[in-house]
Amino acid sequence: MSAFARAGRRTNLAILVVLTVAFGTGALAFAVGDEAAARIIVAGHGIAGLCLVVLTPWKTVVAQRGLRRPRPGRGTSVALAILVLIIVGTGVAHALGAAGPYLGVTAMQVHVGAAIVATALAAVHVWVRTVHPRRADVSRRTLLRAGAVAGAGALLWSATEATAALASLPGAQRRATGSHERGSDDPAEMPVTQWLTDHVPHIDPTGYRLRVVASGRSVDVPFSDLRGSDVVRAVLDCTGGWYAVQDWRGIRLDELLATTVGTPSVGRSIDVVSVTGYRRRFPLYDAGRLLLASHVAGRPLSPGHGAPVRLVAPDRRGFWWVKWVAQVEVVDAPWWLQPPFPGR
Ligand code: HEM
Ligand code: HEM
Repeated sequence: MSAFARAGRRTNLAILVVLTVAFGTGALAFAVGDEAAARIIVAGHGIAGLCLVVLTPWKTVVAQRGLRRPRPGRGTSVALAILVLIIVGTGVAHALGAAGPYLGVTAMQVHVGAAIVATALAAVHVWVRTVHPRRADVSRRTLLRAGAVAGAGALLWSATEATAALASLPGAQRRATGSHERGSDDPAEMPVTQWLTDHVPHIDPTGYRLRVVASGRSVDVPFSDLRGSDVVRAVLDCTGGWYAVQDWRGIRLDELLATTVGTPSVGRSIDVVSVTGYRRRFPLYDAGRLLLASHVAGRPLSPGHGAPVRLVAPDRRGFWWVKWVAQVEVVDAPWWLQPPFPGR
């Protein structure tokens, strides 16, 4: 009897755990801006993801058994298997250095897109091929096996890291978040990426006004009054899998508020809203760290990178760096009262 013939219920349960941990750590990796935290979470994510590779021989036995009995839900299972191949393939390609963009799409964008669709398919698959956990599943033996799978996952992860380092692949240079350097001090080389359905709008610079709202006052500021002289050197770390270090020039939000509507007497947060409707909410106490930038590396921003003005939010991932800012509003609602990731 082959070592994999014992495959069955517990293999499926192990995959369920691994998928959940991989999805959770993946989402967390996008949420954290702090390098030390990112390093641990991203490594944990890589190990969890590679545990799927470790479990593949056992799952293949389960799948072959299932495929011999054609039943409704089979198409979903096969589509899920294809998506998992794409997820692991793009994940490893990204980690080694083949991060793209290819035809305007990065390996990481495909990775996350496929992971979101796979999660929905996995939910259907688990629903139609229900597996019932048993009391006996919580045993010393299961714990040892789980440890062995995790250990093998960690070995595989170390092997990808060692390959990148020994073969001097671009992956060896990536940041703690996993992102690859693209166009530092050379903004023209930075990829233009938007969150989901967001798009580069057409903005007439002469008609453009920034609306600033606080304490019941609202002021429309022309672009000529937004060219500040504060320079901040900060890392734009895009969740598309790349990062760039740039000198951003503009006006700090605390100064913008003070010189337009006056330092707010009430309110807890700042809503920064794009011309496209895209928005993020920040704590008011961060106003001194947030910059409304009109220039990058000494040149005006390009339309793709947020002209006329974009937000620079140091130590936060790219989706916080609202582009094409149309409105800055001080509000009472707490900053955490918003979806962790933008919905559009
Ligand atoms: C990486 C994720 C997964 C992939 C790619 C995958 C793929 C497949 C495939 C291709 C089959 C055979 C076709 C079929 O019976 O529909 C199958 C069967 C099955 N899967 Fe999955 N699956 C995954 C995760 C899971 C999870 C998380 C569970 C439950 C917790 C599960 C439970 C089952 C069961 C019970 C069967 C039927 C086995 C049999 O009839 O002997 N699978 N899976
Ligand atoms: C269930 C779904 C997922 C699976 C199975 C998975 C699996 C993987 C694998 C195998 C790698 C390569 C690890 C390596 O070779 O070092 C990887 C990398 C990565 N994944 Fe996922 N992933 C999933 C979902 C996600 C999600 C939802 C996100 C973000 C929202 C994400 C973000 C990342 C990032 C940033 C990397 C690069 C890590 C690095 O460069 O070391 N993943 N993933």
